[in-house]
Amino acid sequence: MLNNWDDPFAQFDPSNSNKNNRTPPPHAGDGMVNNDRLMETAGAAPCVAPSPTIRSPASTDNSCIEDAADLSGTGLEGIEMGASRIQVDDKKIINCRADLNQLVPFKYDWAWQKYLDGCANHWMPQEINMTADLALWRDPNGLTEDERTVIKRNLGFFASADSLVANNLVLAVYKHITNPECRQYLLRQSFEEAVHTHAYQYCVESLGLDEGEIFNMYRELPAVARKAEWALPFTQHLADPNFHTGTPENDQTLLRELIAFYVVFEGIFFYVGFTQILSMGRRNKMTGVAEQFQYILRDESMHMNFGIDVINQIKIENPHLWSNGFQQQMIALIRDAVEIETQYARDTMPRGILGLNAPMFEEYLQFIANRRCSQIGLPEQYSGVNNPFPWMSEVLDLKKEKNFFETRVTEYQTGGALSWD
Ligand SMILES: [Fe+2]
Ligand SMILES: [Fe+2]
Repeated sequence: MLNNWDDPFAQFDPSNSNKNNRTPPPHAGDGMVNNDRLMETAGAAPCVAPSPTIRSPASTDNSCIEDAADLSGTGLEGIEMGASRIQVDDKKIINCRADLNQLVPFKYDWAWQKYLDGCANHWMPQEINMTADLALWRDPNGLTEDERTVIKRNLGFFASADSLVANNLVLAVYKHITNPECRQYLLRQSFEEAVHTHAYQYCVESLGLDEGEIFNMYRELPAVARKAEWALPFTQHLADPNFHTGTPENDQTLLRELIAFYVVFEGIFFYVGFTQILSMGRRNKMTGVAEQFQYILRDESMHMNFGIDVINQIKIENPHLWSNGFQQQMIALIRDAVEIETQYARDTMPRGILGLNAPMFEEYLQFIANRRCSQIGLPEQYSGVNNPFPWMSEVLDLKKEKNFFETRVTEYQTGGALSWD
């Protein structure tokens, strides 16, 4: 059956089909939806077990050799006519010399699946109606000064943060990940980061905000600058043209950088802002901005899950990197991040708004940090903490991860994908 292109979701209407009787997946422009419903379409949860000891270390075949040379392992080497065909076992996440211009045969099905899930969730900022937001923003009694501050500071932080993540992917991470299916996802993620920066620009333009004030905030306001300042040194290491993986020390540098960006930057530093803006939307304020943030949150959840799988797969293939000393460094990194993000909560809402206050965020960040630690195989750091915002997506993420140690995903669902049967 071909889709009806005037109404591609008609197939989900029970009256149109007796085998597709489910509600349509949420789509940008529908208005805010329940977070749990949105996250049903967030794609595959992490599926690589966090223990580095469940599989044998990397094989010592010749396709993945240790020394670092100029173009080796980049995909830009000269073509070797008649070379033997690529086998699945030739493929490795890092330090692989097998031809990177050949997507198949797949070794990491989880990476390809996340690429497909990302594509199935395509959305654009212009699909979301911002009219009500503009009216509320212009109404002198529409929002308190504290609410306006929260909106502007979050737009200021995220507007540069997503560009920072995109630059980190393209200029630092991509080069060192030597696996084509992971690179395929990195390309998809890079585009999504461009969509996110576009979304913040679209909010600024729609509300008629001072774009100079918003886009320069990360250089002018310490609370916004601090997180970008924390992240930049990590990306600078990997972007250095003289940096090559292939030694234990440099491979640990790459692993540390992946944890800094995927687990901390996208997995902790985004969550105060997401919660602040989404709680505003739940109270029917700035619903267009909040809807933009909902779709960004769904994408970010996928980015983080992909990063966690990459980190755990690198650990499996290179267990010597996951030393006790390195684990202690990563714990310190995550604890430091919780402090910085807690300070961001205090700085952005010194008086508390919308029934939220900084101590609630402190507990929420500790709750999230515990999750992040266990996702990469570190002990939880904060005992006795609960999720003060159960309406955020974390609870649903947990459900999806209940089969984590079976190294396969059983509660995976795509939404927005068109069916051709
Ligand atoms: Fe993003
Ligand atoms: Fe992201």
